[in-house]
Amino acid sequence: MNSESNTILITGGASGIGFSLAEHFLKLGNTVVICGRRKDKLEEAQAIHPHLHIKECNLAIESERIGLFDWTAKNFPKLNVLINNAGIQRRIDLKNSEEWSETRQEIAINLEAPIHLTTLFIPHLLNQQNPMILNVTSGLAFSPLANVPVYCATKAALRSYTLSLRHQLASTPIDVIEIIPPAVNTDLGGVGLHTFGAPLSEFSESVIKQFLEGKKEITFGFSEKAANASREELNDTFKKMNA
Ligand SMILES: NC(=O)c1ccc[n+]([C@@H]2O[C@H](COP(=O)([O-])OP(=O)(O)OC[C@H]3O[C@@H](n4cnc5c(N)ncnc54)[C@H](OP(=O)(O)O)[C@@H]3O)[C@@H](O)[C@H]2O)c1
Repeated sequence: MNSESNTILITGGASGIGFSLAEHFLKLGNTVVICGRRKDKLEEAQAIHPHLHIKECNLAIESERIGLFDWTAKNFPKLNVLINNAGIQRRIDLKNSEEWSETRQEIAINLEAPIHLTTLFIPHLLNQQNPMILNVTSGLAFSPLANVPVYCATKAALRSYTLSLRHQLASTPIDVIEIIPPAVNTDLGGVGLHTFGAPLSEFSESVIKQFLEGKKEITFGFSEKAANASREELNDTFKKMNA
C-alpha cells in the first residue's frame, strides 16, 4: 500500500478525526482535499497547512454532493482515495417527537452522503492507480448507545454497506477499508461531550499505522473489542452502556 503520492478527499476534514488524518496524510507526502460546511473552519485548517485544499460543501444536499464530485474530478483528476468521514451525532428522546427534517438530516449526512459519494466516485476511481474508499463507521455500529439512536442506526447501516461494497469491488482494483473509531475526544455531538474518549492523536496515529499495514478493518480500544465480541458479550455491553 502506497503511503505517499496519493490524492485524497476527506469529507469533514476541517476538524476532529478528519483533520487529524489530513495532517498525517500531508506529512506522508500526499495531496489532501478536505470539505465541510463551515468556511471559517476550512480556512483555519488551511492557515495551519497551506498545502491543504479546501471546498465548502453541505453533504446533506444531493446537488452539493454532485457538485463536490464534479469539482474534485475536474481539479484533482488523479484523486484516488475517498474518505467518507463527515458525520453528526444527535441525542434524541424518542418519546418526544421531533421534526422529521431533523432526523432526515442526520440520516442524509451519515448514511446517504457516503453511499451517494461512493456511487459517484467508483467510475472515476476505477481509472486511478491504487484506488481506495475508506468509510468511517463506529464501535456503536456493533452495540448502540440508546440516547443517540439514529446515529447508531446510520453507523450500523454504513458498516453493512461497507461489507457489501468490499465484496462487490473485490474483482476491481478499489480497496475498501473501514475505520471503526471508539469514543474519541473530538467535538462530535457538541463541545465537551466526548472528553471521556481516547486522545485524538493516539487514535489517529494508530489508524495510520494500521492503514499502512494494510488492515481492512481499523479498530482501537473499545471498537476492537466490540468488533470481535460474541452476541452474549454485545448484550452485556449494551446493558452496561445504557444502564
Ligand atoms: N469522536 C468519536 O467519538 C467518534 C466515534 C465513532 C465514530 N466517529 C465518527 O468519526 C467521524 C468524524 O467525527 P469527529 O469525531 O471527528 O467529529 P467532528 O469534529 O464533529 O467532525 C465531523 C465533521 O463532519 C463535518 N460535517 C458534518 N456535517 C456535514 C455536512 N452536512 N456536510 C459536510 N461536512 C459535514 C463537520 O464539518 P462542518 O460542521 O463544518 O460541516 C466536521 O468537520 C464521524 O463520522 C463520526 O461519526 C467519531
